[in-house]
Amino acid sequence: MTTGPAVRIVTLAERPDLATVVAAWQTLAFPDEETAAAALARVSSQVAAVGPEQVFVLLVGKEPAGTASLVHKDLPARPDLTPWLASVYVAPPHRGRGYAASLVAAVEAAARTAAIPTLWLFTASEKRLYARLGWIEAGREVDAGVCVTLMRRDLGNAEPLRSA
Ligand SMILES: CC(C)(COP(=O)(O)OP(=O)(O)OC[C@H]1O[C@@H](n2cnc3c(N)ncnc32)[C@H](O)[C@@H]1OP(=O)(O)O)[C@@H](O)C(=O)NCCC(=O)NCCS
Repeated sequence: MTTGPAVRIVTLAERPDLATVVAAWQTLAFPDEETAAAALARVSSQVAAVGPEQVFVLLVGKEPAGTASLVHKDLPARPDLTPWLASVYVAPPHRGRGYAASLVAAVEAAARTAAIPTLWLFTASEKRLYARLGWIEAGREVDAGVCVTLMRRDLGNAEPLRSA
């Protein structure tokens, strides 16, 4: 039996050299959001070893194959919500193998470790992927003129619900 290269997830805090590839992916996948230089500056600042702002990179062997982030803010229309699962991206040759699911699980695990009760995300096109992973639709919003679905993930870290 043959086995493929090992798959593992690291943080940018562990591998700051991966900031360039992560920024390039984010600019490619979400081109309307910022310039390549701004993406690199932002990603490079997201290298905290612990806490709610972290960037994760999935490696297949030594090759970077995908990324996802845990960030304080993401959707300008909802500054009241925090933190967010953001910038989920898997490079085309690596898609359809559950890597996005693994990256989402890594972000959720980091949020649990930080005692975060609820994570948020918004998506224009991948609602089904996140629903399959346990995320619940929480409404519709508009981002940069595009209708998006707001989703939430309750992580089982108890916190009394506060009214808005
Ligand atoms: C959306 C995206 C992140 C998905 O990445 P991915 O690694 O292919 O996602 P997964 O493999 O976890 O799931 C994709 C499909 O593969 C299937 N799959 C999961 N594990 C699998 C496995 N081991 N073998 C075969 N198929 C598998 C899943 O069931 C899923 O099928 P579905 O779409 O019918 O539910 C990727 O297509 C991407 O980067 N797109 C561009 C950026 C983007 O849109 N990001 C999301 C912003 S909200």
